[in-house]
Amino acid sequence: MSILLASTDFWEDMDVWSKGLRSAMPEIDVRVYPDDGDVNEVEFAVVWKHPRGILKKYPNLKAILSLGAGVDHIISDPELPEGIPIVRLVDKKLTHEMCLHALHWVLHFHSDQYLYRSQQLKRQWIQQSSIQTEDRTIGIMGLGNIGRSIGELLVTQSFNVIGWGANQKSSLTDIKYYYGQDQLSDFLGRTNILINVLPLTSDTTNIITKKELINVLPLTSDTTNIITKKELRLLPKNSFIINIGRGGIINEEDLLTLLNDRHIKAAALDVFTQEPLPENNSLWDHPSVYITPHIAGQSNPNSAGQTISENIHRIQKGELPYPIYSKTNGY
Ligand code: OXD
Repeated sequence: MSILLASTDFWEDMDVWSKGLRSAMPEIDVRVYPDDGDVNEVEFAVVWKHPRGILKKYPNLKAILSLGAGVDHIISDPELPEGIPIVRLVDKKLTHEMCLHALHWVLHFHSDQYLYRSQQLKRQWIQQSSIQTEDRTIGIMGLGNIGRSIGELLVTQSFNVIGWGANQKSSLTDIKYYYGQDQLSDFLGRTNILINVLPLTSDTTNIITKKELINVLPLTSDTTNIITKKELRLLPKNSFIINIGRGGIINEEDLLTLLNDRHIKAAALDVFTQEPLPENNSLWDHPSVYITPHIAGQSNPNSAGQTISENIHRIQKGELPYPIYSKTNGY
């Protein structure tokens, strides 16, 4: 039995990842694509943007495990083998890093750091009047594991936190939850700093597995392009955006328009419709846009290796790995 590691991202260091997996599972043979050896021996594929079409080469594949939080990089493969469970990565360290990244930008905007930087460049000594954390509402789109952890952290700092998602679920103790298209405008109308952690889901990126064909439901939450000019205008004037979910969710052209209109004060973007962000993209030059190259919550090879190995051991014992990608939810 062996594990295949595969990625096309040149900055993913596969040696570090295979060391992380080997130290969590010393008994298992880890192979790095394209050195996959006997294809019959490969039972698990651990991937990040794997070369399209390769996974159907392995007849005994039991599961495809993501090296990152999202699985859009897997399900967008048009030649994905059918009926193989796809396992998302929910890892404590990754979640913690996402929380820190979100907190950093919330504080940057909340405490006017972006203004003090530009004042410094002009040698201006102007004390901005501060807003209390209780009077600042942070709206989190996507209250899954990561969104909820970010929300709970912000609540401990006394921010007013609300959440939105496509499907109904109950509010958390300190986080009022809004859901569905009907409640999106209420949610946006109350939000001063919008944090997006939604996964990108769309009908075209979903592959129906054999198992799911038995019980096909329509996709409940297509998140592609759900925040356009119209939704951005629902945010109160001078709001901020932090996008650490996926680029295709907030329309980039519309965001630029609203930044130019000064309806949105500033945006911190870590994810983009096209990555790497093309050199000629206007977002690079915008004075109110802060760009990071998809580094919020980078997976940690030791901790993620441990989480992935626990899932592989579960499958080997005939148990279900956690969490399995659901075609009907879209994530
Ligand atoms: C992701 C990640 O899925 O970086 O975006 O983990």
